[in-house]
Amino acid sequence: METKKRILSGIQPTGTFTLGNYIGAVRNWGLLQQEYECIYMVANMHAITVRQTPADLRRQTREAAALLLACGIDPKTSILFVQSHVPAHAELNWVLACSTQFGELSRMTQFKDKSARHADNVNAGLFTYPVLMAADILVYNADLVPVGADQKQHLELARNVAGRFNGVYGDTLTVPDPYIPQTGARIMSLQEPDKKMSKSDTNANSFILMLDDPDTIRRKFKRAVTDSEGRVYASPEKPGVTNLMSIYSVFTGKDMAAIEAEFDGRGYGDLKSAVAESVVETFAPIQDEYRRILADKAYLDEVLKDGAERARRIADRVVSKVYRKVGFLQL
Ligand code: TYM
Repeated sequence: METKKRILSGIQPTGTFTLGNYIGAVRNWGLLQQEYECIYMVANMHAITVRQTPADLRRQTREAAALLLACGIDPKTSILFVQSHVPAHAELNWVLACSTQFGELSRMTQFKDKSARHADNVNAGLFTYPVLMAADILVYNADLVPVGADQKQHLELARNVAGRFNGVYGDTLTVPDPYIPQTGARIMSLQEPDKKMSKSDTNANSFILMLDDPDTIRRKFKRAVTDSEGRVYASPEKPGVTNLMSIYSVFTGKDMAAIEAEFDGRGYGDLKSAVAESVVETFAPIQDEYRRILADKAYLDEVLKDGAERARRIADRVVSKVYRKVGFLQL
């Protein structure tokens, strides 16, 4: 039997996932499960690069796992775990840090953005964050990493670090490829459509959360910023309308031309309510399932324990091999 290629991806438990998280990443995680061996993680270690309230982080870690299950991650087919439950990530992180240059980390745009936003807490973890992310991926020898466009630069770094390590110590780590969706790799803010949709945005109308109720979803779309032209078509000059069309395209399976035809002669109001309904319809069953799973704490914790065990078995072997290659004494 041909062995399946391996996938690894992660998401931070810093609040409910946005529509951007879902379209850019999580939705695809579910779709890829049959074809690939999938490993998905709640990246709680990444979350503390920004100050978190411990009790909230603990709660949100469970909530994130429950939401991933509700989105269709099957814990029998795939491995679902919490990052801090697998020490190998932190172990490989150190070795890889010694194969990563200060200069290349300085070029990371997300570091520049985040350090500007959290000027009072520009900690070393925020700076070395992409090294831990590289460790997350390389510790499983993942072939493919499904992420949104904003993670592309971090993935490029992971590829460079793996290549450099292999160059020095001999073939050890798999160089991973990004898997970035054609449509929806960068869902934009509903209020400032030239900015990425992000849950850390101070304006709550700029993002849709996966647990927003139907009326909130409808209201946010109704207020979405478009333009004054009034004609529905995709264009770089029309980021607001194009963003709405992309969301609609993902949820209905219609391509941009079909959407243009559908709204020919109709206004933005019609487009907005159609998009809102497609989102409400997609999220309603996920929200029900989420509440059911979250109420069953014993089940949830069992899934995460089992996931961590299976993840550790793979990751520990890679760390052992890396330790041997770099010359760490093994007794
Ligand atoms: P995070 O938690 O910020 O986001 C999770 C995933 O959602 C995608 N995403 C978006 N996609 C489209 N449009 C948007 N507006 C949007 N906003 C977010 C992100 O690209 C990401 O795929 N560092 C990662 C978590 C991580 C990770 C990893 C990912 C840790 N280790 C290893 C892959 C492999 C992060 O902070 O994602």
